[in-house]
Amino acid sequence: MDEKIIQQVKQRYGIVGNYEGLNRSIDVAIQVAPTELSVLIYGESGVGKEVLPRVIHDNSTRKHNKYFAINCGSLPEGTIDSELFGHKKGSFTGALDDREGYFSVANKGTLFLDEVGELPLATQARLLRVLETGEYIRVGESEVRKTDVRIVAATNVNMQKAIREGKFREDLYYRLNTIPINMPPLRERGRDIELLFRKFAYDISQKYRIEPVRLTEDARTLLLRYKWPGNIRQLRNLVEQISVISQEREITSEILRSYGVTDDSLGETGLVLHGSNRMEHTAETHSYEKERDMLFQLLSSIGKEVKDLKELVHSNMETMREPQPYIVNESRYTPASSIPYESRHIQDVEDIETIEEAPMSNKELMRKNIIESLQRNNGNRKKTAQELDISERTLYRKIKDYGLEI
Ligand SMILES: Nc1ncnc2c1ncn2[C@@H]1O[C@H](COP(=O)(O)OP(=O)(O)O)[C@@H](O)[C@H]1O
Ligand SMILES: [Mg+2]
Repeated sequence: MDEKIIQQVKQRYGIVGNYEGLNRSIDVAIQVAPTELSVLIYGESGVGKEVLPRVIHDNSTRKHNKYFAINCGSLPEGTIDSELFGHKKGSFTGALDDREGYFSVANKGTLFLDEVGELPLATQARLLRVLETGEYIRVGESEVRKTDVRIVAATNVNMQKAIREGKFREDLYYRLNTIPINMPPLRERGRDIELLFRKFAYDISQKYRIEPVRLTEDARTLLLRYKWPGNIRQLRNLVEQISVISQEREITSEILRSYGVTDDSLGETGLVLHGSNRMEHTAETHSYEKERDMLFQLLSSIGKEVKDLKELVHSNMETMREPQPYIVNESRYTPASSIPYESRHIQDVEDIETIEEAPMSNKELMRKNIIESLQRNNGNRKKTAQELDISERTLYRKIKDYGLEI
């Protein structure tokens, strides 16, 4: 492992941290870059997977050619083949012209297929073919074309499970997985958590021209113990919220707790989980679908609390810009909608006892959340999907299932 090169890469790409597992992943990326091998990056959501394909491309012989990052989860199922492989004019309704796909425009370059586990099976078959032979066929054509594209893929789903369930082709998996790189979850990175906190606090202080927040000793300890289900993305959002909302610049563990940073057994996900429902957290077994389902399950059992939370949000949003003493702290809840989905936690389980209204079903709750999020984002589905931390394809499906289509 060449420490100097690793440090240079970190500097160039703004990667913060010294955790050995992180260094190892960067090292593998550098080593594998000049080869033609396919790389599959594993890691939970928010661990920083997206920077590695760029590192690989920039350090390869392809660096002067095109690089495209494609999120397989956000391409609608109906057009995904045409986006990737192109189509012939008239091959389907709406195909008004011939179209080049990514495999054509990225010829001699690199394609980053993010959320590769979301690819439909038919597309997986086409992808396997192009990976094995360099050949592909545009939608609606029979002519075989050639391309030379290097693939780097990433996933946060358990691929073994997807294979077992028949959702992912085993042969394609082995083809993509020639070189696996695992991005470690934040909770394993020890002191990096604090480094990242400081980096984000500094960035935000520059952006908003405010004094950066700092941690007290007990707050530091709490951050290290917390499980960070949303990883670095969650940490960044948390630091941003605290920096902007809190009047305090010295952040105590008490303040962190009011933002959902827990240090007890709930900390793992912020959810109460029992027996077989317990969340699994390794990169291989982590499933956000599952986590979301559980979150909705729990939320549905606190019907009235949700309403209270929303009221709090509004009052807090209004008071946010006024110079006031620390408000969020007075309540045991952080304003829910000002917190990114992935870092929302139920902070006090005892309060579940106080349920009064009939709980909503998971489906009703999801439907309600989608409607509200769509409204907040003026119907923008991409932003809505991001806010709800689901793929755009899942959102489209749910919109259809719930009859929300206009
Ligand atoms: N080591 C790191 N140092 C600084 N920022 C990071 C680091 N890892 C991730 N980030 C930031 O965290 C956010 C989430 O990273 P991303 O690559 O989108 O995660 P993933 O694709 O694994 O869900 C991005 O804003 C990214 O810039
Ligand atoms: Mg990502």
